[in-house]
Amino acid sequence: MSKTIIITGGAGFIGSHVVRLFVNKYPEYKIINLDALTYAGNLENLRDIENAPNYFFEKADILNADQLERIFVLHNPDGVIHLAAESHVDRSIHSPLDFVYTNVIGTVNLLNTAKHFWKDNMGGKRFYHVSTDEVYGALGDTGFFTEETKYDPHSPYSASKASSDHFVRAYHDTYGLPVVVSNCSNNYGPNHFPEKLIPLFINNVINKKPLPVYGDGLYTRDWLFVKDHARAIDLIFHQGKTGDTYNIGGFNEWKNIDLVKLLCKLMDERLGNPAGTSEQLITYIKDRPGHDRRYAIDAGKISKELGWKPSVTFEEGLAQTIDWYFQNTEWLHHVTSGEYQQYYQKQYDKTS
Ligand code: NAD
Ligand code: DAU
Repeated sequence: MSKTIIITGGAGFIGSHVVRLFVNKYPEYKIINLDALTYAGNLENLRDIENAPNYFFEKADILNADQLERIFVLHNPDGVIHLAAESHVDRSIHSPLDFVYTNVIGTVNLLNTAKHFWKDNMGGKRFYHVSTDEVYGALGDTGFFTEETKYDPHSPYSASKASSDHFVRAYHDTYGLPVVVSNCSNNYGPNHFPEKLIPLFINNVINKKPLPVYGDGLYTRDWLFVKDHARAIDLIFHQGKTGDTYNIGGFNEWKNIDLVKLLCKLMDERLGNPAGTSEQLITYIKDRPGHDRRYAIDAGKISKELGWKPSVTFEEGLAQTIDWYFQNTEWLHHVTSGEYQQYYQKQYDKTS
């Protein structure tokens, strides 16, 4: 059956993988990528599908309700998959209001537009909000986040995402908007902007720059290959229960320092360096304020109800990711010139 779906944030890291999956897998669907093209949005991420007959791009800001209304009227969507957001914790510490505007107000704007546009017939409609495990706060050495874990965000980023999640559920309970929400762990893979741990460190190894590890390096994250997140989003969009939440994770916990050492080893092999070369770049620096100690997802529900599980091991995914960065040096060059340099200086040159 044909559908028209607006994917917000489709020019970003995860959004571009979701757009590609839907454009290729569902040629009968019309896929509209709605993105403001902030520093994190990059149409180069979608070069391979930009001429597909079922793909459309709309440059628009979710803060602008008039633009949203125009796009809804023009395309008449049945579904929204909402990924547009400010996504980097460190930037949220510098500029919390940007996160309130985009993540909270932008999401409420989008909810209002969908509610208004679908008010006479919500049948067959779906508003899918893509969120994060960071809303649950931090774990100690044991335990997992489940769909029932109480929200306890600590960073301005996670507080803004928590707020947006609450609004999405409130629009379901108050107005009957057919919503579904997922909360995912740390993604990695091709097209990841080099402000986040893995692509930042790949870029720094390539450029022989210090690898800035925050605090004692013993913080733990649960890593998932981005294409497996996109597969989960596809399943939840089509088969998830309206009003429900699904946790998505990689069953793959790593302490930062162990991950960095594995990355250094793989990079040295790829570069033909003697073993141990890149590890010498590791530099411990001042900790991130409010740094959550450990995240770990119990992805049992999506696995049992929808039959989803990750398709690649971490070693395979990391090797594919490293290869992608070596094969896409022009992409890396484009995204690390300009604003990136100022951000880097502000974030690292003052704290190290
Ligand atoms: P990203 O920063 O790479 O991309 C965000 C995209 O949103 C960019 O294309 C940007 O141009 C667009 N955007 C930002 N503000 C906008 C606005 N006002 N209007 C329209 N578009 C706007 O982010 P990402 O890492 O791909 O994350 C996508 C979503 O997934 C976010 O909602 C994030 O909270 C969530 N998430 C991310 C991860 C992760 O590990 N990266 C994990 C779980 C959940
Ligand atoms: O858990 C899901 C979240 O994962 C997403 O919601 C966020 O959008 C995404 O950015 C990511 O958040 P993190 O803060 O976990 O990711 P980041 O890559 O920034 O950091 C991963 C870990 O590495 C974290 O413990 C901080 C540490 N780190 C990060 C950077 C950038 C360092 O030690 N040094 C660094 O330079």
